[in-house]
Amino acid sequence: MLKLGVNIDHVATLRQARLGVEPRPLEAALICEEAGAWGITAHLREDRRHIQDADMVELVENVQKLNMEMALTDEMLQIATKLKPNSCCIVPEKRQELTTEGGLEVVNNFENICAAVKRLHDNEIIVSLFIDPVAEQIAAAVESGAEYIELHTGTFANTKAGSSERKEELSRLMEMAEYATNLGLKVNAGHGIDYENIEDILKIPHLHELNIGHSIVSHAVMVGMKQAVSEMIDLMKKY
Ligand code: PXP
Repeated sequence: MLKLGVNIDHVATLRQARLGVEPRPLEAALICEEAGAWGITAHLREDRRHIQDADMVELVENVQKLNMEMALTDEMLQIATKLKPNSCCIVPEKRQELTTEGGLEVVNNFENICAAVKRLHDNEIIVSLFIDPVAEQIAAAVESGAEYIELHTGTFANTKAGSSERKEELSRLMEMAEYATNLGLKVNAGHGIDYENIEDILKIPHLHELNIGHSIVSHAVMVGMKQAVSEMIDLMKKY
């Protein structure tokens, strides 16, 4: 069964807008679990624009499966190895970006990535690398020892529904999911997935998990977190 990981960063975005105490990411995470989400994802960014260190602590302590998204920095590795979330997804991070804009450069950062994967594995943390659907990056991800990749679906999500660009990007994702699986990687996908474009996302073979944040949190503002999560899970049942 295709699993849903809900990224709750934007619950924290709303709280940080007033530097207050609500809404609390942990409370949202517990409702997501109750609604059937398989896991919770949170990105502790270097600039702490949404999720804060204290959020990570209470999430690790209280949710069933926490996936920590993090940049490849010594600070983040120290935090991860101390908190020991179930898994870490290593992502590229730029301070000026609105959200993660592209996949990790595994080929050009190979040694640093291998060292990070080893450090996380030594602490019994599962590792995923967030990468673009590009064969060389996938081959390097296998060599790094990471057990998962998360295919970056942001480029796909930024194309117009029904356009030739969308078809092209979807077939790239499909082909690279096949390639990665044949090389022994487990494949997740995430970024920009919503209630509409998920229909195409479900055509990608061999997926284990989708990590979805903005669309679920946005819908939750209208219908509540429980319903927003259930509606997404219902759509994913077609996989
Ligand atoms: N996966 C990764 C690696 C991400 O960086 C993000 C955004 O934080 C997501 C999934 C979720 O993306 P979205 O909020 O667009 O659903």
